Amino acid sequence: MGYRVAVIGAGIIAGSHLKAMRNMDVLAPCAIADIARDRANALAAEHGIPSYADYKEMIDKERPDIAVVTLPHYLHKEAACYAASRGCHVMLEKPMAMNVRECDQIVEAVYAGGVKLMVGHTQHYDAVNLAAKAWIDGGRLGRMTMIDDRRHQRYDTPSRPAWFFEKAKAGGGILTNLGSHSIDKIQWMTGERIARVTASVRYADMRGDIEGGGSAFLATESGIPATLSQSGYPGAVVDETEFRFTGGSMKLLTGRGLWVSDGGDYEQVPVPPQPDPFVRQFEDLLGAIRDNREPECSMAYSRSVVAVVESLYRSHQRGAETAVER
Ligand SMILES: NC(=O)c1ccc[n+]([C@@H]2O[C@H](COP(=O)([O-])OP(=O)(O)OC[C@H]3O[C@@H](n4cnc5c(N)ncnc54)[C@H](O)[C@@H]3O)[C@@H](O)[C@H]2O)c1
Repeated sequence: MGYRVAVIGAGIIAGSHLKAMRNMDVLAPCAIADIARDRANALAAEHGIPSYADYKEMIDKERPDIAVVTLPHYLHKEAACYAASRGCHVMLEKPMAMNVRECDQIVEAVYAGGVKLMVGHTQHYDAVNLAAKAWIDGGRLGRMTMIDDRRHQRYDTPSRPAWFFEKAKAGGGILTNLGSHSIDKIQWMTGERIARVTASVRYADMRGDIEGGGSAFLATESGIPATLSQSGYPGAVVDETEFRFTGGSMKLLTGRGLWVSDGGDYEQVPVPPQPDPFVRQFEDLLGAIRDNREPECSMAYSRSVVAVVESLYRSHQRGAETAVER
């Protein structure tokens, strides 16, 4: 069976979803909506499909099977709830929503609509990350003892859309946006939820009213400590996660490579090739629809990522360790 897919938002990431659909016989893009009409028109023309300025009108007229939501964060809840209320399954970009209250409203709308929703936490579908997860689950390095996750890259680049710098539209800065990926990575790799956080956030000289960086100490439910450090200020680019175990260590450069040590120097290990992460994401959602199951990045899981992000800012404001809301 084929699925008709409507895309809400014709910005940067919409292209990745449309490209994935081109490689999947079972998915057919049917329409695209964006308030920036020129953007919607350009992408729609590329795919020979109609464009809309109003995504609600698009959903009502086109009646797609699946809606892909690629909007600024403050619109995720509204669009996901609307699509679900019209009987569309939803592929929702990360983070799930601005806060856990909004996540709960999405969950309610999805259950009421009898549809499936998954959040596109792309980390789960990256070939190098999947190889790292297989090493961890294989147990050859022993039990995990700690994690050090560092991601530094200039945040205020010319290509970054302006809404990312408005707290009211983005929720926060680098810790909300790239932090969601790191939190997801830590929770997924450990198979545990983060339970406690202590964070310190830096706002100096960043565009808009978002933070430019910060560091956090996290602890998972069973007590695995993790440090998360992100800087959006200019400087050398770093994207590295190191896992330490009772019998070795592992260095993960997402999208680039994996190194393992059983006591000596790091040695690079092979990474089996995988389909494009956006294709794998769609396959997960389709499996959930067909088998009436939760996708890998379920709503409950994706809500937990938002809960940790919220806790980072709360801990910073309080100047104290903060328990992550359940
Ligand atoms: N998975 C990943 O690796 C990844 C990478 C980049 C972005 N993202 C996520 O994708 C989402 C979109 O990010 P982006 O970089 O594509 O942003 P973007 O600004 O390029 O795209 C968003 C689009 O939404 C449109 N829009 C705004 N309000 C609208 C409305 N009311 N109705 C219809 N269209 C509207 C804008 O005009 C814009 O074209 C965010 O959630 C972001 O965090 C994920």
